[in-house]
Amino acid sequence: MVQQTDTLNQPIPTTLLPDEDFFAQLRKQEYSRIDDTSEIYLDYTGGNLYPASLVSNHQEMLLKSVFGNPHSINPTSKRSSDLIDAARQKVLDFFNAKDYVCVFTQNATNALRIVAESYPFNPDTEYILLSDNHNSVNGIREYCRHKGGSVTYVPVQYEDLQINEALLKQLLTTHAKNKKVLFSYPAQSNVTGVKHDLKWVAFAKELGCDVILDAAAFVPTSRLDLSEVQPDFVSVSFYKIFGYPTGLGCLLIHKDSFQKLTKPWFAGGTVTLVSVNTQDHYLTNTHERFEDGTLNYLDIPAIKSGLDYIDSIGMERISGRIHAIIKLFAHRLQQLKHSNGTPLLKIFGPEDFNKRGGNMIMSFYDPEGNTFSTELIEEKASRQHISIRTGCFCNPGVDEINNCITTNELATYFTTHSDGNYHDMVAYIGKMRGSVRVSVGFITNEADINAFCNFVSQFKDKKESEITL
Ligand SMILES: Cc1ncc(COP(=O)(O)O)c(C=O)c1O
Repeated sequence: MVQQTDTLNQPIPTTLLPDEDFFAQLRKQEYSRIDDTSEIYLDYTGGNLYPASLVSNHQEMLLKSVFGNPHSINPTSKRSSDLIDAARQKVLDFFNAKDYVCVFTQNATNALRIVAESYPFNPDTEYILLSDNHNSVNGIREYCRHKGGSVTYVPVQYEDLQINEALLKQLLTTHAKNKKVLFSYPAQSNVTGVKHDLKWVAFAKELGCDVILDAAAFVPTSRLDLSEVQPDFVSVSFYKIFGYPTGLGCLLIHKDSFQKLTKPWFAGGTVTLVSVNTQDHYLTNTHERFEDGTLNYLDIPAIKSGLDYIDSIGMERISGRIHAIIKLFAHRLQQLKHSNGTPLLKIFGPEDFNKRGGNMIMSFYDPEGNTFSTELIEEKASRQHISIRTGCFCNPGVDEINNCITTNELATYFTTHSDGNYHDMVAYIGKMRGSVRVSVGFITNEADINAFCNFVSQFKDKKESEITL
């Protein structure tokens, strides 16, 4: 009997995962190495796994043809250029992004860096960002500050790690009256898996703000339709969507916002004309303006194949499967209790699974409610070939809120240390930091979920000092 529930604290669904035959077959066909090597992979937000056919087809293509450096009309160069053009067009089609320019980058971080170094920050700029952001978005604040602009963080709510809607509205509206606002937020949190509402893009745009949507954690399992949601800038890493190749991402720039970015230098491939004598130059008016030097022309063709592969499964099917897996996973974990009835772990974030993607964070507790150290958990999991992630996940804002680290405590650490690191800060503040993150992919199965639940059960009725690795 299938029970329909979409919230964390409702009765557990007894359902089998949807599309089980299809995904079991896919796992066997494309990802047999997971089971052949007995790995329990639960770090899909860190990096997706590649299907075997993507690698073998790409390798075959490389072995059969001759590819030259693009940017020339010779036949081998043209072959590379044609495949790059096809990949670029595929990216635009995949995101329904007719109004966008696709700039190939090394990863999402480099996409964000292009915006950071080219955005016209000045003393009248307010950079507003959610406290739930990856450091590659947080880091943009340094460019803003160096050019005299100000930075405002909008904290997510302690209770459910979601946007405080009233506060965000108020801050965007107030600042947009007097300043040029650049607003940045992730479509999905790389830590909590919270899917932040895409409505904030239109809300901020209507106030005259420019918007960066960091889509790196969202697009691997959710459809982003850029004809409906139109941020100025979007950052993506392709390995998070289909696993191979690494080292490639893109910045999608709305065509209306292309001229807003002022590139601070020029490089090979980005110009139409340069004079050494007069020290003048003209930048190109296309994606090439931001693609410095030689593109990764041997790997870029695999982007088209990767996106074709995702299309062949279907993004709606992927989203549905992820939704069901994370729901089943969370419910199974919530059932795990010590003999005295206290829970072995707590999952953070919203109750409503419709607001969550395929990653979630949690803390483990002993029977007295004391937290187990995340380092111990990761070490123990690693020894059992379970790949999870612990710490802050390059997103300190969520962690500071979740673990109630006060501004005062942070300020005291930073003003008394000229140098520092995460572990030293934890020792200095004397408070727990970090959490345990599991993230699932469409080929995650019940055996993976069971393996992790069995792992968690090893903490039952134990104190930290009684745990053996
Ligand atoms: C939401 C989000 N933004 C940005 C990044 C940075 O991506 P990359 O390291 O591929 O540049 C990540 C990586 O995990 C992410 O999840």
